[in-house]
Amino acid sequence: MSNQTDAANQGTNLSATRQRSPLVGEDFPDEAYAVIATILKQQQNFDLASYKSVNMKRRLAAYLRSCGCTDPLHYSAELADRAEEQKQLIAAMGIHVSHFFRNPSTFLALKSRILPEVLRMSRRQNSKLRIWSVGCALGEEPYSVALLLKDMVQKGDQFAIVGTDLSPDALKRAKNGCYPVDRLKEVPPAMLEKYFSAQAQLYQINEEIRQLVQFFRHDIISEEIIYRADVILCRNLLIYFSRDKQQQVLKLLAGALSPGGYLVLGRAETLAPDCRNLFFCVDPAERIYRRTVDL
Ligand SMILES: C[S@@+](CC[C@H](N)C(=O)[O-])C[C@H]1O[C@@H](n2cnc3c(N)ncnc32)[C@H](O)[C@@H]1O
Repeated sequence: MSNQTDAANQGTNLSATRQRSPLVGEDFPDEAYAVIATILKQQQNFDLASYKSVNMKRRLAAYLRSCGCTDPLHYSAELADRAEEQKQLIAAMGIHVSHFFRNPSTFLALKSRILPEVLRMSRRQNSKLRIWSVGCALGEEPYSVALLLKDMVQKGDQFAIVGTDLSPDALKRAKNGCYPVDRLKEVPPAMLEKYFSAQAQLYQINEEIRQLVQFFRHDIISEEIIYRADVILCRNLLIYFSRDKQQQVLKLLAGALSPGGYLVLGRAETLAPDCRNLFFCVDPAERIYRRTVDL
């Protein structure tokens, strides 16, 4: 990570903060965390308070360790005047873990039941099928859906796939569509052969598939709906949010879904209790829900 080196070399003399034992998330002082949260909110409009502090403290500690800094109080005290460092810190806290066809059984359910159903609906209504991948990381999820749909659509079908993420860097990489082999381990060999080309140590997804997905920066806790969709995938993102924010996001997603539209969560995620009137479960194992018709 270039940000590690940059941060380590920057003018605040982080080396002056070198201390004894390696810093871990559990030791991250609340006081320093609160100062960092205030600075990031005021100066970068990044709402650290929306995320579970236990996860974010772990990431902050890892970042400071990578900079050789073990004094979070000192670090937080100097952060206010360092706009570039604030951006690097936010980038370092974003974890873009993903891979193509992550949880293959979920994609099997999409392929065999959900996508055929929504395609039928859009044909009946003569409308465009719209799919939104929220927190799309480097694009693996929306491209996986594009690879499935590519083989399912018939002449005259119209569809649009949108991927959004908070991280500009992740979106840049998503648009470029180059992946190391470990992110492609669930891609069937014939699909790999047909739709990817090897580029040094990476595989790039072909232009034909790249053109099927549009990427935008969007903060899902901004309370704005930027897209209306028939299927929303919001997987492995809610788990990082506090309970209040999970509810807020689920309400927003219900508002963004067409009546009867589908919501797909991550395998470790569930509906917050306050949102159970907004959706009903159609596949408990795969965490697939349907928006109730009347909100
Ligand atoms: C663990 S990845 C999940 C990727 C993919 N959905 C999957 O399940 O494989 C979570 C992604 O959510 C993004 N993210 C974090 N906070 C976000 C927010 N407030 N709005 C939109 N995306 C966010 C991160 O940048 C990261 O790329």
